[in-house]
Amino acid sequence: MVHYLPKDDTRPLAFDGSILGSESNIPSQFIWPDDEKPCLDAPELVIPTIDVGALLCGGDPLAVLKAAEAVNEACKKHGFFLVVNHGVDSGLIDRAHQYMDVFFGLQLSEKQKALRKVGESYGYASSFVGRFSSKLPWKETLSFRFCPDTRNIVENYMVHRMGEDFRDFGRIYQEYCEAMNKLSLHLMELLGISLGLDPAYFKDFFQANDSILRLNHYPPCQKPNSTLGTGPHSDPTSLTILHQDQVGGLQVFSDEQWHSIAPIPGAFVVNIGDTFMALSNGVYKSCLHRAVVNNRTVRRSLAFFLCPEMDKAVTPAAGLVNAENPRRYPDFTWASLLEFTQRHYRADMKTLDAFSKWVQEQESNKKATP
Ligand code: OGA
Ligand code: NI
Repeated sequence: MVHYLPKDDTRPLAFDGSILGSESNIPSQFIWPDDEKPCLDAPELVIPTIDVGALLCGGDPLAVLKAAEAVNEACKKHGFFLVVNHGVDSGLIDRAHQYMDVFFGLQLSEKQKALRKVGESYGYASSFVGRFSSKLPWKETLSFRFCPDTRNIVENYMVHRMGEDFRDFGRIYQEYCEAMNKLSLHLMELLGISLGLDPAYFKDFFQANDSILRLNHYPPCQKPNSTLGTGPHSDPTSLTILHQDQVGGLQVFSDEQWHSIAPIPGAFVVNIGDTFMALSNGVYKSCLHRAVVNNRTVRRSLAFFLCPEMDKAVTPAAGLVNAENPRRYPDFTWASLLEFTQRHYRADMKTLDAFSKWVQEQESNKKATP
Protein backbone atom coordinates (compact mmCIF):
# COMPACT_ATOMS: atom_id res chain seq x y z
CA MET A 1 0.00 0.00 0.00
CA VAL A 2 1.63 3.25 -1.10
CA HIS A 3 0.17 6.66 -0.46
CA TYR A 4 1.09 9.71 -2.47
CA LEU A 5 1.63 13.37 -1.73
CA PRO A 6 -0.60 15.89 -3.54
CA LYS A 7 -0.30 15.91 -7.34
CA ASP A 8 2.60 18.36 -7.51
CA ASP A 9 4.81 16.07 -5.43
CA THR A 10 5.04 12.43 -6.38
CA ARG A 11 7.42 11.05 -3.75
CA PRO A 12 5.90 7.95 -2.15
CA LEU A 13 4.61 8.71 1.31
CA ALA A 14 5.19 5.38 2.94
CA PHE A 15 7.54 6.21 5.82
CA ASP A 16 10.93 4.94 4.83
CA GLY A 17 13.30 6.02 7.58
CA SER A 18 16.38 5.17 5.52
CA ILE A 19 15.34 7.78 2.94
CA LEU A 20 13.60 10.35 5.13
CA GLY A 21 16.46 10.43 7.66
CA SER A 22 18.73 12.36 5.33
CA GLU A 23 15.98 14.37 3.63
CA SER A 24 16.02 18.10 4.45
CA ASN A 25 12.65 18.60 2.77
CA ILE A 26 10.30 17.09 5.35
CA PRO A 27 6.76 16.20 4.13
CA SER A 28 4.35 18.74 5.60
CA GLN A 29 2.33 16.05 7.42
CA PHE A 30 5.25 15.71 9.87
CA ILE A 31 5.55 19.41 10.67
CA TRP A 32 3.89 20.32 13.98
CA PRO A 33 2.15 23.68 14.58
CA ASP A 34 4.30 26.35 16.26
CA ASP A 35 2.67 26.07 19.68
CA GLU A 36 3.30 22.31 19.75
CA LYS A 37 6.85 22.32 18.41
CA PRO A 38 9.32 20.61 20.75
CA CYS A 39 12.07 22.15 22.82
CA LEU A 40 15.14 19.96 22.61
CA ASP A 41 16.89 21.19 25.75
CA ALA A 42 14.09 20.77 28.30
CA PRO A 43 15.16 20.76 31.99
CA GLU A 44 15.45 17.35 33.57
CA LEU A 45 12.53 15.89 35.52
CA VAL A 46 13.39 14.83 39.03
CA ILE A 47 11.99 11.33 39.52
CA PRO A 48 12.82 8.81 42.24
CA THR A 49 15.04 5.81 41.59
CA ILE A 50 13.33 2.79 43.07
CA ASP A 51 15.55 -0.11 44.10
CA VAL A 52 13.31 -3.17 43.85
CA GLY A 53 15.97 -5.64 45.04
CA ALA A 54 14.36 -6.18 48.44
CA LEU A 55 10.90 -6.60 46.89
CA LEU A 56 12.13 -9.23 44.43
CA CYS A 57 13.85 -11.45 46.99
CA GLY A 58 11.37 -10.95 49.83
CA GLY A 59 14.07 -9.09 51.76
CA ASP A 60 14.10 -6.21 54.23
CA PRO A 61 10.46 -5.09 54.75
CA LEU A 62 11.63 -1.62 55.73
CA ALA A 63 13.39 -1.21 52.38
CA VAL A 64 10.17 -2.26 50.63
CA LEU A 65 8.15 0.29 52.62
CA LYS A 66 10.63 3.01 51.79
CA ALA A 67 10.36 2.15 48.09
CA ALA A 68 6.55 2.16 48.34
CA GLU A 69 6.58 5.64 49.89
CA ALA A 70 8.75 7.05 47.10
CA VAL A 71 6.46 5.42 44.51
CA ASN A 72 3.40 6.91 46.20
CA GLU A 73 4.82 10.42 46.07
CA ALA A 74 5.87 10.15 42.41
CA CYS A 75 2.58 8.59 41.27
CA LYS A 76 0.42 11.23 42.96
CA LYS A 77 2.38 13.90 41.12
CA HIS A 78 3.17 12.65 37.60
CA GLY A 79 3.28 8.85 37.64
CA PHE A 80 6.91 8.46 36.52
CA PHE A 81 9.74 6.69 38.36
CA LEU A 82 12.94 4.76 37.59
CA VAL A 83 13.44 1.12 38.55
CA VAL A 84 16.87 -0.39 39.27
CA ASN A 85 18.08 -3.69 40.68
CA HIS A 86 15.23 -5.25 38.71
CA GLY A 87 16.87 -8.57 37.94
CA VAL A 88 16.38 -8.34 34.16
CA ASP A 89 19.49 -9.64 32.38
CA SER A 90 21.39 -6.75 30.78
CA GLY A 91 22.41 -9.05 27.91
CA LEU A 92 18.72 -9.59 27.11
CA ILE A 93 18.06 -5.83 27.09
CA ASP A 94 21.07 -5.28 24.80
CA ARG A 95 19.92 -8.00 22.41
CA ALA A 96 16.39 -6.60 22.36
CA HIS A 97 17.81 -3.24 21.25
CA GLN A 98 20.26 -4.70 18.72
CA TYR A 99 17.73 -7.00 17.06
CA MET A 100 15.49 -4.05 16.26
CA ASP A 101 17.89 -3.24 13.40
CA VAL A 102 17.31 -6.69 11.88
CA PHE A 103 13.68 -5.78 11.30
CA PHE A 104 13.74 -2.02 10.76
CA GLY A 105 16.72 -2.34 8.41
CA LEU A 106 14.67 -4.48 5.99
CA GLN A 107 13.27 -3.15 2.72
CA LEU A 108 9.91 -1.49 3.25
CA SER A 109 8.17 -4.21 1.23
CA GLU A 110 9.57 -6.87 3.59
CA LYS A 111 8.51 -5.00 6.73
CA GLN A 112 5.05 -4.65 5.25
CA LYS A 113 4.61 -8.43 5.52
CA ALA A 114 3.85 -7.66 9.17
CA LEU A 115 1.80 -4.56 8.36
CA ARG A 116 -0.71 -3.53 11.00
CA LYS A 117 -4.12 -2.62 9.64
CA VAL A 118 -6.21 0.32 10.84
CA GLY A 119 -7.88 -0.59 14.12
CA GLU A 120 -5.39 -3.37 14.93
CA SER A 121 -2.87 -3.19 17.75
CA TYR A 122 -0.19 -5.54 16.52
CA GLY A 123 2.32 -5.53 13.69
CA TYR A 124 4.43 -3.03 11.79
CA ALA A 125 3.23 0.54 11.63
CA SER A 126 4.69 3.61 10.10
CA SER A 127 2.96 6.97 10.14
CA PHE A 128 0.77 6.44 7.13
CA VAL A 129 -1.13 3.36 8.18
CA GLY A 130 -2.95 5.31 10.89
CA ARG A 131 -6.10 7.33 10.58
CA PHE A 132 -4.39 10.72 10.88
CA SER A 133 -3.00 12.91 8.13
CA SER A 134 -1.31 15.65 10.17
CA LYS A 135 1.07 15.90 13.12
CA LEU A 136 2.47 12.50 12.17
CA PRO A 137 5.05 10.81 14.38
CA TRP A 138 8.62 10.47 13.08
CA LYS A 139 8.95 6.77 13.78
CA GLU A 140 8.28 3.20 12.80
CA THR A 141 7.02 0.65 15.29
CA LEU A 142 6.61 -3.10 15.59
CA SER A 143 4.11 -4.28 18.20
CA PHE A 144 3.41 -7.71 19.66
CA ARG A 145 0.58 -9.11 21.70
CA PHE A 146 1.74 -10.83 24.88
CA CYS A 147 -0.45 -13.06 27.05
CA PRO A 148 1.41 -15.01 29.74
CA ASP A 149 -0.81 -18.08 29.28
CA THR A 150 -0.37 -18.41 25.52
CA ARG A 151 2.91 -20.26 24.97
CA ASN A 152 5.40 -18.64 22.61
CA ILE A 153 2.83 -16.12 21.38
CA VAL A 154 5.41 -13.56 20.26
CA GLU A 155 7.70 -16.10 18.62
CA ASN A 156 4.83 -17.74 16.76
CA TYR A 157 3.42 -14.42 15.58
CA MET A 158 6.76 -13.43 14.08
CA VAL A 159 7.14 -16.78 12.29
CA HIS A 160 3.56 -16.58 11.06
CA ARG A 161 3.98 -13.08 9.59
CA MET A 162 7.65 -13.07 8.50
CA GLY A 163 8.60 -16.71 8.00
CA GLU A 164 10.81 -19.28 9.70
CA ASP A 165 13.90 -17.03 9.39
CA PHE A 166 12.40 -14.81 12.07
CA ARG A 167 12.09 -17.48 14.76
CA ASP A 168 15.23 -16.37 16.63
CA PHE A 169 14.12 -12.77 16.33
CA GLY A 170 10.71 -13.65 17.77
CA ARG A 171 12.37 -15.68 20.53
CA ILE A 172 14.30 -12.62 21.80
CA TYR A 173 11.13 -10.56 22.20
CA GLN A 174 9.26 -13.55 23.65
CA GLU A 175 11.93 -13.71 26.39
CA TYR A 176 11.89 -9.97 26.83
CA CYS A 177 8.09 -9.99 27.30
CA GLU A 178 8.33 -12.79 29.84
CA ALA A 179 10.88 -10.78 31.83
CA MET A 180 8.69 -7.66 31.61
CA ASN A 181 5.60 -9.60 32.69
CA LYS A 182 7.43 -10.87 35.77
CA LEU A 183 8.77 -7.43 36.66
CA SER A 184 5.41 -5.76 36.12
CA LEU A 185 3.72 -8.17 38.56
CA HIS A 186 6.34 -7.30 41.18
CA LEU A 187 5.69 -3.63 40.52
CA MET A 188 1.97 -4.28 40.95
CA GLU A 189 2.77 -5.65 44.39
CA LEU A 190 4.68 -2.47 45.20
CA LEU A 191 1.87 -0.29 43.85
CA GLY A 192 -0.62 -2.18 46.04
CA ILE A 193 1.53 -1.63 49.13
CA SER A 194 2.03 2.02 48.19
CA LEU A 195 -1.75 2.56 48.12
CA GLY A 196 -2.28 0.82 51.46
CA LEU A 197 -3.95 -2.21 49.83
CA ASP A 198 -3.24 -5.92 50.12
CA PRO A 199 0.07 -6.50 48.26
CA ALA A 200 -1.69 -9.20 46.22
CA TYR A 201 -4.57 -6.96 45.11
CA PHE A 202 -3.20 -5.64 41.79
CA LYS A 203 -0.83 -8.56 41.33
CA ASP A 204 -3.83 -10.91 41.24
CA PHE A 205 -5.77 -8.53 38.99
CA PHE A 206 -2.97 -8.60 36.39
CA GLN A 207 -1.85 -12.23 36.82
CA ALA A 208 -3.63 -12.99 33.58
CA ASN A 209 -3.14 -10.05 31.25
CA ASP A 210 -3.32 -9.07 27.59
CA SER A 211 -0.29 -6.87 27.15
CA ILE A 212 1.65 -5.22 24.34
CA LEU A 213 5.34 -4.89 23.56
CA ARG A 214 6.17 -2.06 21.16
CA LEU A 215 9.55 -1.54 19.51
CA ASN A 216 9.96 2.16 18.72
CA HIS A 217 12.48 3.05 16.01
CA TYR A 218 13.09 6.78 15.49
CA PRO A 219 15.27 7.57 12.46
CA PRO A 220 17.30 10.78 12.54
CA CYS A 221 15.41 13.81 11.26
CA GLN A 222 16.88 16.89 9.62
CA LYS A 223 14.18 19.13 11.15
CA PRO A 224 14.10 17.97 14.80
CA ASN A 225 12.77 21.33 15.98
CA SER A 226 9.59 20.94 13.90
CA THR A 227 8.82 17.24 14.28
CA LEU A 228 8.06 14.78 17.07
CA GLY A 229 8.98 11.10 17.32
CA THR A 230 5.87 10.45 19.39
CA GLY A 231 3.36 13.25 19.95
CA PRO A 232 2.04 14.23 23.39
CA HIS A 233 -0.09 11.41 24.81
CA SER A 234 -0.91 9.57 27.97
CA ASP A 235 -0.67 5.79 27.78
CA PRO A 236 -4.20 4.35 27.81
CA THR A 237 -2.73 1.09 29.18
CA SER A 238 -2.11 0.25 32.86
CA LEU A 239 1.63 0.31 33.49
CA THR A 240 4.43 1.08 31.03
CA ILE A 241 7.97 -0.24 31.43
CA LEU A 242 10.20 1.63 29.00
CA HIS A 243 13.83 1.07 28.17
CA GLN A 244 15.36 3.82 26.08
CA ASP A 245 18.80 3.61 24.50
CA GLN A 246 21.62 6.08 25.21
CA VAL A 247 20.43 8.72 22.74
CA GLY A 248 17.69 10.29 24.88
CA GLY A 249 14.46 11.95 23.77
CA LEU A 250 11.73 11.08 26.30
CA GLN A 251 9.96 14.14 27.72
CA VAL A 252 7.24 14.48 30.37
CA PHE A 253 4.81 17.36 30.95
CA SER A 254 4.80 18.22 34.64
CA ASP A 255 4.32 21.53 36.50
CA GLU A 256 3.11 23.17 33.26
CA GLN A 257 6.37 22.48 31.51
CA TRP A 258 8.11 19.86 29.38
CA HIS A 259 10.95 18.02 31.13
CA SER A 260 13.37 15.42 29.82
CA ILE A 261 14.17 12.05 31.32
CA ALA A 262 17.82 11.19 30.71
CA PRO A 263 18.63 7.60 29.75
CA ILE A 264 20.30 5.38 32.35
CA PRO A 265 21.38 2.03 30.84
CA GLY A 266 20.60 -0.15 33.88
CA ALA A 267 17.27 1.50 34.66
CA PHE A 268 13.73 1.18 33.36
CA VAL A 269 11.45 4.20 33.18
CA VAL A 270 8.08 3.16 34.59
CA ASN A 271 4.87 5.15 34.26
CA ILE A 272 1.23 4.87 35.24
CA GLY A 273 -1.28 4.57 32.38
CA ASP A 274 -4.92 5.70 32.17
CA THR A 275 -6.29 2.28 33.13
CA PHE A 276 -4.29 2.22 36.35
CA MET A 277 -5.35 5.78 37.04
CA ALA A 278 -8.93 4.49 36.93
CA LEU A 279 -8.08 1.45 39.12
CA SER A 280 -6.66 3.86 41.72
CA ASN A 281 -9.78 6.04 41.44
CA GLY A 282 -7.65 8.92 40.16
CA VAL A 283 -5.21 8.87 43.11
CA TYR A 284 -2.30 7.98 40.82
CA LYS A 285 -1.77 10.09 37.70
CA SER A 286 -1.28 9.10 34.11
CA CYS A 287 0.79 11.90 32.68
CA LEU A 288 1.34 13.47 29.26
CA HIS A 289 4.65 12.54 27.62
CA ARG A 290 6.27 12.56 24.16
CA ALA A 291 9.50 11.68 22.37
CA VAL A 292 11.68 14.15 20.49
CA VAL A 293 14.04 13.22 17.64
CA ASN A 294 17.45 14.50 16.62
CA ASN A 295 19.43 15.07 13.42
CA ARG A 296 22.41 12.88 14.34
CA THR A 297 21.39 9.36 15.06
CA VAL A 298 18.64 6.78 15.18
CA ARG A 299 16.99 6.31 18.59
CA ARG A 300 15.43 3.09 19.89
CA SER A 301 13.12 2.33 22.78
CA LEU A 302 11.28 -0.76 24.02
CA ALA A 303 7.89 -0.15 25.62
CA PHE A 304 6.06 -2.93 27.47
CA PHE A 305 2.46 -1.99 28.22
CA LEU A 306 0.79 -4.08 30.90
CA CYS A 307 -2.97 -4.28 30.20
CA PRO A 308 -5.85 -6.15 31.84
CA GLU A 309 -7.59 -9.01 30.09
CA MET A 310 -9.88 -7.55 27.43
CA ASP A 311 -13.23 -8.16 29.14
CA LYS A 312 -12.30 -7.88 32.80
CA ALA A 313 -14.17 -5.10 34.63
CA VAL A 314 -11.91 -2.17 35.46
CA THR A 315 -13.30 -0.89 38.74
CA PRO A 316 -11.46 1.01 41.48
CA ALA A 317 -10.27 -0.70 44.65
CA ALA A 318 -12.98 -0.28 47.32
CA GLY A 319 -10.44 1.14 49.79
CA LEU A 320 -9.76 4.05 47.44
CA VAL A 321 -13.36 5.22 47.12
CA ASN A 322 -14.66 7.33 50.00
CA ALA A 323 -16.44 10.58 50.85
CA GLU A 324 -13.35 12.66 50.14
CA ASN A 325 -12.56 10.82 46.94
CA PRO A 326 -15.84 9.62 45.39
CA ARG A 327 -16.00 7.47 42.23
CA ARG A 328 -14.21 9.28 39.41
CA TYR A 329 -14.81 6.99 36.42
CA PRO A 330 -17.46 4.44 35.44
CA ASP A 331 -16.62 0.74 35.22
CA PHE A 332 -15.23 -0.18 31.83
CA THR A 333 -13.24 -2.84 30.04
CA TRP A 334 -9.80 -2.51 28.49
CA ALA A 335 -11.37 -3.66 25.18
CA SER A 336 -13.66 -0.62 25.16
CA LEU A 337 -10.94 1.89 26.11
CA LEU A 338 -8.66 0.43 23.45
CA GLU A 339 -11.41 0.75 20.86
CA PHE A 340 -12.08 4.32 21.96
CA THR A 341 -8.44 5.36 21.56
CA GLN A 342 -8.11 3.57 18.24
CA ARG A 343 -11.33 4.63 16.57
CA HIS A 344 -12.59 7.79 18.22
CA TYR A 345 -9.93 9.70 20.05
CA ARG A 346 -6.24 10.54 19.84
CA ALA A 347 -4.88 9.70 23.29
CA ASP A 348 -4.00 12.78 25.34
CA MET A 349 -4.21 14.17 28.86
CA LYS A 350 -8.01 14.18 28.76
CA THR A 351 -8.49 10.66 27.40
CA LEU A 352 -10.02 9.24 30.58
CA ASP A 353 -12.51 12.07 31.01
CA ALA A 354 -13.54 11.97 27.35
CA PHE A 355 -13.81 8.18 27.53
CA SER A 356 -15.90 8.29 30.72
CA LYS A 357 -18.35 10.63 29.02
CA TRP A 358 -18.48 8.33 25.99
CA VAL A 359 -19.17 5.29 28.19
CA GLN A 360 -21.95 7.13 30.00
CA GLU A 361 -23.49 8.29 26.71
CA GLN A 362 -23.39 4.76 25.35
CA GLU A 363 -25.08 3.46 28.47
CA SER A 364 -27.86 6.04 28.32
CA ASN A 365 -28.34 5.28 24.61
CA LYS A 366 -28.73 1.61 25.47
CA LYS A 367 -31.36 2.45 28.05
CA ALA A 368 -33.23 4.70 25.58
CA THR A 369 -33.35 1.97 22.89
CA PRO A 370 -33.63 -1.37 24.66
C1 OGA B 1 5.25 5.12 23.98
C2 OGA B 1 6.17 6.20 24.41
C3 OGA B 1 8.39 7.11 24.48
C4 OGA B 1 9.77 6.84 23.96
O1 OGA B 1 5.69 4.26 23.18
O2 OGA B 1 4.08 5.13 24.43
O3 OGA B 1 5.73 7.07 25.11
O4 OGA B 1 10.70 7.40 24.56
N1 OGA B 1 7.45 6.15 24.02
O5 OGA B 1 9.92 6.10 23.00
NI1 NI C 1 3.77 6.51 25.93
